[in-house]
Amino acid sequence: MKIIVKDGQQDFDHAAAMEIVQLINKKPNAVIGLATGHTPKGMYKVLGEMCKNNEVDFSNVITFNLDEYLGIKSDHPGSCKSYLQERFYDLVNLKQQNIYHLNSQPEDYEEECHRYNRLIQQIGGIDLLILGIGHNGHLGFNEPNTSFKTEVHVCQLTDRTRTANIWSFGCKEDVPTEGITMGIKNIMGCKKLMLLANGEAKADIVKRALKGVVTEELPASVLQLHNDVVIILDKEANELV
Ligand code: PGA
Repeated sequence: MKIIVKDGQQDFDHAAAMEIVQLINKKPNAVIGLATGHTPKGMYKVLGEMCKNNEVDFSNVITFNLDEYLGIKSDHPGSCKSYLQERFYDLVNLKQQNIYHLNSQPEDYEEECHRYNRLIQQIGGIDLLILGIGHNGHLGFNEPNTSFKTEVHVCQLTDRTRTANIWSFGCKEDVPTEGITMGIKNIMGCKKLMLLANGEAKADIVKRALKGVVTEELPASVLQLHNDVVIILDKEANELV
């Protein structure tokens, strides 16, 4: 596990973006898994600027989003798809046909899980998955006590997760109660993982996840079992090194 600690938002965002740029330089048709949330916003902005300046080329890159809310329209302003559209897809030269998404309103939930699992497999797996960490240790929408054996699945969102995401819906009542997410098994199947965390409020959970006991009670602790993980923290989130 490689741990990078940066001083200040700008350096943090840049370090995260550079992991992606370096991968694309080595493998122009890389497959990248995309998280949403507050944490990676600056990284996406840097990637947009670099693409505009011809410093990185996404024209052969393939992306899969990590998770999505269920029961809202895909173009609802709070959806993960809308987040990525506005903050990433619109800023880079990805090809529309290379962008894969979980459907927020599938007719058949189970079939949607199978479809996404199949797609990930058919493409040959994910080269680099970007992850945030919830205050309760969740990865994607894999909340505490999710089995490490799960593939793409439908899940109930915890009260804490819904509260943390009020910012994208306006009020708690409007935050969906269910989500669909890559499972822990999908996450562990990615060739490389990049976990981003910033701010003092994440310091304790990052430390417990990465230095504590590996347990399904704390989903992010599973990262200790992956052989290629880069953790990018700002000074405030760092109690690791
Ligand atoms: P955040 O969310 O970046 O908004 O803190 C992280 C997460 O829930 O995975």
